[in-house]
Amino acid sequence: MIDNNLNFYKICFDNSREGILVTDLLGKIILVNKRVESIFGYKEHELVNENVNLLLPKSIRNKLKLANNHNISYQEINIDQRNLYGIHKDGHKVPVIIGLNTFELNGQTYVKAFISDITNYKKKEQLFRKLNVNLEQEVKTKNEELKVINKQLKEANKILIIEIQNKIIAEKKVKSALEKEKELTNMKSNFLTLASHEFRTPLSGIMTSATLIDKYAQNNSVEKIEKHVDQIKAMVHHLNRILYDFLTLEQLNNNEFKLNNTNLNPFELINSIIVDIKSLLKKEQKIKYIVFNSNKEISCDKKILIAVITNLLYNAIKYSHDNSLIELSSKIRNKKLIISIKDNGIGIPKNDQKHIFERFFRARNALEIQGTGVGLNIIKGYVDNMGGSIKFKSIENIGTTFTVNLPIKSTIKIEHYEKEGVTY
Ligand SMILES: Nc1ncnc2c1ncn2[C@@H]1O[C@H](COP(=O)(O)OP(=O)(O)O)[C@@H](O)[C@H]1O
Ligand SMILES: [Mg+2]
Repeated sequence: MIDNNLNFYKICFDNSREGILVTDLLGKIILVNKRVESIFGYKEHELVNENVNLLLPKSIRNKLKLANNHNISYQEINIDQRNLYGIHKDGHKVPVIIGLNTFELNGQTYVKAFISDITNYKKKEQLFRKLNVNLEQEVKTKNEELKVINKQLKEANKILIIEIQNKIIAEKKVKSALEKEKELTNMKSNFLTLASHEFRTPLSGIMTSATLIDKYAQNNSVEKIEKHVDQIKAMVHHLNRILYDFLTLEQLNNNEFKLNNTNLNPFELINSIIVDIKSLLKKEQKIKYIVFNSNKEISCDKKILIAVITNLLYNAIKYSHDNSLIELSSKIRNKKLIISIKDNGIGIPKNDQKHIFERFFRARNALEIQGTGVGLNIIKGYVDNMGGSIKFKSIENIGTTFTVNLPIKSTIKIEHYEKEGVTY
């Protein structure tokens, strides 16, 4: 009966694409189909009645044995299907997938195995793996190359950024040079307009005095002639100063300004400035010079000192009335020469005070009086350059006091020469 059934199954499954193998519970092979023959290289008669272990690697044999001993069903055996293989007649390993189950027939338990030969699949898998490895290697190499390129790009980028920054700086420089040039041209034309306006009055004054001198010469009026000669001198002084301001502005703009220190006695210098400027004093106007430490010599730039004091003194005269007093004081304290010039003149309106050192700026209440608005700007430039300071206090219609602080290199004591409160 069994034989008949086995024959029946054998005929049914001989052509199956899977190998089919049946054993009893002890592993004795009962039946194999044709595919089993081709998978393992044995003829049917070489397998039937042999133990299935003939076809199995040791690891599986052990597992099956264990299952048998412990009465565990074949489905429950944990066989790693990924690396499963059978043993071919010639000894080589045949990669397979095996499906196991048991069935009962006539009170007997049999084990049925479906075996798929996956040699081709494994070969392909290996090929894929190899391709994969190659691919990974290639990706890795490409990655490395990309990293290098990336680094080079970053470097190039850095250089580019620096180049762009340099270009921007250069452009800015050109722009600021152009602006400076433009400003200078504007300034020159502004100044020329103002200066030519400023020149007109003293020139016509000189002309008048010269004509009068001619007239007085005929009458031999020496005193009057002297007065007009003084006036001509003062006008020429004034013109000179305007020209000097113009040249100074140019120097300050071109950064050509250099200090030239010499030893001098500030008291003597200020006295000579007052004597020079006296002819510009208005009717009954007076300058009182209060001096401290007149016995000291200092190291300072003489031309600049003259320019600073003359400008301030001339403003004090110009912006105050007849019959007024201008007080000038000088002292040396803590390595500083401190000069202050106080007048009781028109003062500087509060709103205009913050602009007073700006080039060409003239306060609202000074517009009727001649001027260029350059003097204070120049002396501020000088004083700043020397590391000093210039400040002022002013109340409109009451008066103005300018105070200049100049650092001095050294002070040398000379013979005692104290003179206080000289009035000119
Ligand atoms: N002692 C002063 N009293 C009143 N205003 C003054 C005095 N000094 C300067 N100022 C104001 O400051 C302005 C700028 O002075 P400055 O630069 O010397 O130019 P300028 O005297 O040619 O106008 C003057 O126009 C005037 O308005
Ligand atoms: Mg002035």
